[in-house]
Amino acid sequence: MLLVCLSQCKSEVRRPDIMVIPMPSSLVNMAGTFSISSQTKILINSDIPEMHRVTNYLCKHLEDAYSVKNKVIFSGSAEKQSIFIRLNTALPISRESYYLTVNAKGVILQAVSPAGLFYGIQTLIQMMPPIRQKLSEVVIPAVEIKDMPRFSWRGLHLDVGRHFMPTAFIKQYLDYMAIHKLNTFHWHLTDDQGWRIEIKKYPLLTTVGSVRKETVVGRPGSKSFDGTQHGGFYTQEEIKEIVSYAADRFITVVPEIEMPGHALAALAAYPDLGCTGGPYEVATSWGVFDDVFCPGKENTFTVLEDILTEIIPLFPGEYFHIGGDECPKSKWQKCADCKQRMKDEGLRSEHELQSYFIQRIGKFLNDNGKKIIGWDEIMEGGLTANAAVMSWRGEQGGITAAKERHMVVMTPGEYCYFDHYQADPKNEPLAIGGFLPLKKVYNYDPVPAILTADESHFILGAQGNVWTEYLKTPEQVEYMVFPRAAALAEALWSPKSARNYDNFKSRLNRLAKVYDLMGIHYCKTEFHE
Ligand code: ACM
Ligand code: ZN
Repeated sequence: MLLVCLSQCKSEVRRPDIMVIPMPSSLVNMAGTFSISSQTKILINSDIPEMHRVTNYLCKHLEDAYSVKNKVIFSGSAEKQSIFIRLNTALPISRESYYLTVNAKGVILQAVSPAGLFYGIQTLIQMMPPIRQKLSEVVIPAVEIKDMPRFSWRGLHLDVGRHFMPTAFIKQYLDYMAIHKLNTFHWHLTDDQGWRIEIKKYPLLTTVGSVRKETVVGRPGSKSFDGTQHGGFYTQEEIKEIVSYAADRFITVVPEIEMPGHALAALAAYPDLGCTGGPYEVATSWGVFDDVFCPGKENTFTVLEDILTEIIPLFPGEYFHIGGDECPKSKWQKCADCKQRMKDEGLRSEHELQSYFIQRIGKFLNDNGKKIIGWDEIMEGGLTANAAVMSWRGEQGGITAAKERHMVVMTPGEYCYFDHYQADPKNEPLAIGGFLPLKKVYNYDPVPAILTADESHFILGAQGNVWTEYLKTPEQVEYMVFPRAAALAEALWSPKSARNYDNFKSRLNRLAKVYDLMGIHYCKTEFHE
């Protein structure tokens, strides 16, 4: 650790170490420091609303953490002793990249887009002390940073089907993502155990489908249930509020509406959507259930398209996740409507019926301006044109998809499932299984070695998946996600050459202080206290 005071600093001022996560692509320590006080002007060269949002984020941090209040002034050029936030579309860098220069004269941050400036501000904030205390001056070390993300999909997922998570927590989750430069929130909104999004045309989806009468205690198969109703859903107004909160943090929200499997909550609300007509019940245990949407009945598509029609405008992002995983075919095999559909469409197997389902929904979404993404089972029976694949049963699905020139997001269970244990299960709260320690997440490379350079361009990135069968509260979610999300963030942002686990661990000590200040209930196994 560099604790020496370099000759340029005032004798009493120590040059702080830079402990940024994720590690920037290029970082050169320079001599000296810059001190931010309430006299420091923040200059912006563009008046677009995002510039104000980005700048306000910085001002809010300075004020909330240190009671330093700065004036924001419109200016075409830098001035001495100022922080100049410059939108500069002429720079030869990609959208989320930024240049950050700090020296005794001031700070200059430049990017081609507000997103890049936002990431530069995250880095600048991480150069400040991780404390909440009134300061007359906030001292930051001099540095030259040129930074760009390695991947464009830097994701974190959250399953709110198994356990509903309140809106206030979703916003915190987005705040946590932002400080890690994660940019894609995959929101798993429906499952067997709960439908969590208001659909005005089909109100029973939430009045019936969002409520389960009780929840299994322990593992599935246990005869013990808690006897307590569990429910909750987001109104469309709340969804809009969250999507806008995410956009302020340059996070895209990708909704997931599960089909054709994991659909029991929807079937409980509208039994006509299943092969047998029910009755069905919102699941009270975990697993894969045989009752799924019936692709034999035309009404299934009418209703699903109505549902999607309400959801599409709420989410401005490019991709829409349609699930597609773990769909048993046993009900389809016995259903007269499904058999008829297979005959009419010349489908030779139930796998092809699954493919028919995905292709039909995929076309509807394409026609309505969305690209589809689904779990790797969407490749069964032939992959829909334009569909992106989320590889979760290992990396093979992603490898095959990339070779077929489909976009891929890597989420293999072995490296990306944050519901797996992160320490000795003996001492941990009950979890679904597996073992995924911090170091293993850190060392994950989303580009499989078997892909050629050309094929590797189809790997958009990766994401951490957070299934909540065993996570009933926001605190439990936080415990499973942090600090593993920090390890994944660095694997997704930093160049391979800049990654070093021991060095990451030393920087993580600073981040832990930020977690403490934010009230995150992170796992402390990797911190030897
Ligand atoms: C999954 O974990 N079933 C995608
Ligand atoms: Zn059927």
